[in-house]
Amino acid sequence: MNYYIGADLGTSSLKLLLTDEKGGIIASVTKEYPVAYPHPGWSEQSPEDWWDALQSGIRELTKKADKSRIRAIGVAGQMHGLVILDQEDKVIRPAILWNDGRTAGETQYLNEQIGKKTLSDYTANIAFAGFTAPKILWLYNQERENFDAISKLMLPKDFINYRLTGVHATDYSDASGMLLLDVKRKCWSKEMLDICHIKESQMPKLFESYQSIGTLLPKVASELGLPEDTVVCAGAGDNAGAAIGTGTVGKGKCNISLGTSGTVFISSDRFGVDQHNALHSFCHADGGYHLMGCILSAASCNKWFCDEVLQTKEYEKEQQAIKEEHLGNNTLFFLPYLMGERSPHNDTAASGTFVGLRPDTDRSQMLLAVLEGVAFAIRDNIEVAKRLGISITVSTVCGGGAKSPLWMTILANVLNLTLQLPKTEEGPGFGAARLAMVARGDVSSLADCIQTEIKQEITPDPALAKRYEERYQQFVKIYPALKQVYAQLQGGNENDI
Ligand code: XUL
Repeated sequence: MNYYIGADLGTSSLKLLLTDEKGGIIASVTKEYPVAYPHPGWSEQSPEDWWDALQSGIRELTKKADKSRIRAIGVAGQMHGLVILDQEDKVIRPAILWNDGRTAGETQYLNEQIGKKTLSDYTANIAFAGFTAPKILWLYNQERENFDAISKLMLPKDFINYRLTGVHATDYSDASGMLLLDVKRKCWSKEMLDICHIKESQMPKLFESYQSIGTLLPKVASELGLPEDTVVCAGAGDNAGAAIGTGTVGKGKCNISLGTSGTVFISSDRFGVDQHNALHSFCHADGGYHLMGCILSAASCNKWFCDEVLQTKEYEKEQQAIKEEHLGNNTLFFLPYLMGERSPHNDTAASGTFVGLRPDTDRSQMLLAVLEGVAFAIRDNIEVAKRLGISITVSTVCGGGAKSPLWMTILANVLNLTLQLPKTEEGPGFGAARLAMVARGDVSSLADCIQTEIKQEITPDPALAKRYEERYQQFVKIYPALKQVYAQLQGGNENDI
């Protein structure tokens, strides 16, 4: 039997899978690392922490395996993060992550001075604060010394691949989120590189996700105890990786991911742009394209509420206290904008908000409002897709949030969609292992190893879906009413409120 390593370089942890050639999971290991929030709305991580997690994780993962049978490694990683290396390949500063909101000014400059239409012509997308290009401009404006020291610029999973192989590479799905790629033509946009004061020689070489970028550096192979001819594939952004892992490929399929972020991922066999650019138009890891909406805080809202407010790690127990009759009848709303919001609002000033607290509100209703608020925010993105004429009647779901049966019931009814839970829940890591298998040449095409096995289907209940429809119509009124207040609070001028 041959083995493959699939890695999901997430925001809270690195999840590693050892799979066999039939898609069986032989072993899995999770290594956590911290996120730093050095200022409100900023989020950073140390690339060295990722690398340490990968090295110790792979040693643990392969402890009992016949390492000589390991054929290839694939990494699917958190998208948009900016990693910069100097001439000696040293990390210049902590990586600025996908949910970092410091670039409000640069985002505004790109969307208003360069102009949304021009950006969309160059890249098929407009600027969102978490994207990589505004971060590069922020460095140029705020940390010129660090900017001038950049020899190589890359995305989080590309840093891991660079350490593994010595090859400075990226793949089209992840590169799409930099706002530097001409998504339609699959090449760097020279205009965008100029706007960001970057040279193409500083950028990674582009590959399809399922292509090999090279084999392990001999020193790394010996340190990890893996064969020197272990192939490393270009890998993917975590959402495209999850789509491969959940079988979301080809025309018009949908996957929802409930991880730290929440995403709605709609695969397509051809290039297309949301005319209002609310959904991202990115390349897919299967060689095609996709549209995607991303909310910045999804399962992280549940984690925040339980860890920080309720001061408990017993997530399941807290959810068990939620009474069934409260579903669809909660009088409390939660806006899940803990890190501002990406899709569809594109607003770094928005913040997490409870609306409707009363003296008899209890913790279970507050937790229910948190779970519902995330589902409503996901629905905001489904609504954008509907307005584009895309019809979604069924979607797979993956990520930590998919493990909660209660949350899945809420989501299915808020979206009025049938949800499918794939047999293998670890979407990105599983997808990355599949990509690695193709890169090694052990299967002739991705289509031969796409997962279609569904372990459970959750169908909406018409009465509950109706109640949630009414609640959603109330939810959508809250953000527009608070938008100005959020902006004034972020500006720090309380007298304006
Ligand atoms: C997608 C996005 C997030 C991260 C999470 O655009 O920013 O889903 O990839 O890791």
